[in-house]
Amino acid sequence: MNTTFLDACNRKEAEHTPVWFMRQAGRYLPSYLRIKGEMAITELAKDPALASDAAVDAVKALGVDAAIVFSDIMLPLEGIGVRFKIQENVGPIVSNPTRTPGDVEALGTLRPEDDMAYLYQGIESTLRKLDGAVPLIGFSGAPFTLAAYMIEGGPSRNLEKTKSMMFSEPEVWRSLMIKLTKTVKDYLNAQVKHGVQAVQLFDSWVGCLAPEDYEQSVLPYTREVFASISGVPRIHFCADSAPLIEVFHQSGADVLSVDWRVPIASVWTRSAGKTAVQGNLDPAAAVAGGQVMERKISSILESSRGRTGHVFSLGHGVARATPPENLRRVVEMVHDQTRRRR
Ligand code: CP3
Repeated sequence: MNTTFLDACNRKEAEHTPVWFMRQAGRYLPSYLRIKGEMAITELAKDPALASDAAVDAVKALGVDAAIVFSDIMLPLEGIGVRFKIQENVGPIVSNPTRTPGDVEALGTLRPEDDMAYLYQGIESTLRKLDGAVPLIGFSGAPFTLAAYMIEGGPSRNLEKTKSMMFSEPEVWRSLMIKLTKTVKDYLNAQVKHGVQAVQLFDSWVGCLAPEDYEQSVLPYTREVFASISGVPRIHFCADSAPLIEVFHQSGADVLSVDWRVPIASVWTRSAGKTAVQGNLDPAAAVAGGQVMERKISSILESSRGRTGHVFSLGHGVARATPPENLRRVVEMVHDQTRRRR
């Protein structure tokens, strides 16, 4: 197996800096569009044969050092009674948002292996198709980001309804977070049981909080999720995390995944040298390609030189307009430049 990704997550010397991309299996990739055909993303994710094809195909197309389970952060919410659709170019739209104490009360309990048998079959099928070539990353949305979709009912710029519940109804917030924390723990631990070799928690929207609010209303739950997982590296992703790094690294994750707004070298320092760091090329640079992209890659590699534990990635998901050859170039450049320096 190519262990560079796991080595970097574990802050061991890796043969070269590993690379993978969030949403590496997505609509920018012609082979993905062929697999997906007319299906909705949720249908595709529920078909273990096709979902595993999508995950493995992306690895083959790009030459990356890790695969990620093909699914979506919203799917476990079906099991607790959240009804939603993923609308193209918009995102998840929830038809029964969670806004009152009664709504929280009515949420059910996820039985991951029964409610989501397709996911665990998909993991096994992906592992078989990868045949040990690269590790497979499992994932979940974090309690805060899942709560945000459930409360807002869809994507939102300022998460006003979410913050309003957090600030004005702390007891309702707390009971919602307790339910989601259990859901996420059970969901992720079942993925580990079925063989994923690392896990990533997507707290995509938590960057809208002030550090003290994050610390008080989110961190305890995230910590509980990470504390429940053992034996595999745990990655914590958040967009817009620049002001949060010091509290963010208290989550107990092994790897902090940060975006392009934060100078990557500062993350090792600000997290007290205790975590590996994943990131942080601007996805727009991967759309642009050429010299702009190459200069930014070199600058990230220069900043991470001499640090152990760098996983090269984008600061957020691959944009739809990205030419796949640009991502292949990222992989090639990172591998070449980091192999040479050892
Ligand atoms: O290759 C991979 O990374 C694996 C699969 C993956 C998907 N979604 C598939 C997907 C992963 C890891 C996710 C996570 C996810 N989903 C997040 C966290 C990461 C992030 O971007 O912050 C979030 C917030 C979602 C919710 C969601 N699902 C959004 C915002 C969208 C985009 C809507 C659009 O049309 O632009 C989706 C849909 C989605 N999930 C796509 C894919 C490949 C694109 C739609 C499609 O293929 O039909």
